[in-house]
Amino acid sequence: MEKLEVLITEEQLRSGVAELAERINRDYNGEELLVVGILRGAFVFLADLVRRLTMPVVIDFVAVSSYGDDTQSSGVVRILKDLDESIAGRHVLLVEDIIDTGLTLKYLYENLKARHPASLKVCTLLDKPSRRRVDFNPDYAGFTIPDYFVVGYGLDCGQRYRNLPMVCVIRQEQEGCPPFAGGEQPR
Ligand code: XMP
Ligand code: MG
Repeated sequence: MEKLEVLITEEQLRSGVAELAERINRDYNGEELLVVGILRGAFVFLADLVRRLTMPVVIDFVAVSSYGDDTQSSGVVRILKDLDESIAGRHVLLVEDIIDTGLTLKYLYENLKARHPASLKVCTLLDKPSRRRVDFNPDYAGFTIPDYFVVGYGLDCGQRYRNLPMVCVIRQEQEGCPPFAGGEQPR
């Protein structure tokens, strides 16, 4: 753990997720919701979030990749696993772990919008607005964070650390993680 520094504690995550769920429950007012998680990073957040939703919920997943390396969006997004559900006429909530440049979500949002859902909203656990390359704003965001590369609670570095119960900042250079370009790391 010495390479990692806690940025968002388990307790903060719990109350942040609870607040998001309360807002979503209020906004959809009992309407059935199709919750679509973006694999793999959103799986922990989605699991905690949906257990606090009170309307009827259906869950599906989509997997995307962006060309380029794993930690840097190139802007070209490819759907690796499409939805199993048809979304036409349904209320859809896209759930993401983190919005960074915004390229992934902008692409997915437009792709899903073209399938004529009754409504389409986006809920992200983390938002790094300072890194945005396209204009994209989530409907729900749990925590706004500075330009740190973070892991844990579903987020990875070279596929590791997804199982950590809190969100941490990586303090040392590690294989599979981006260099500390942009953004000073907390000590
Ligand atoms: P864009 O740039 O398209 O990318 O908004 C969103 C995706 O980039 C990954 N990402 C991260 N993954 N820690 C991670 O583990 C981070 O700090 C981070 N920033 C971006 C992530 O896969 C997300 O879905
Ligand atoms: Mg990732």
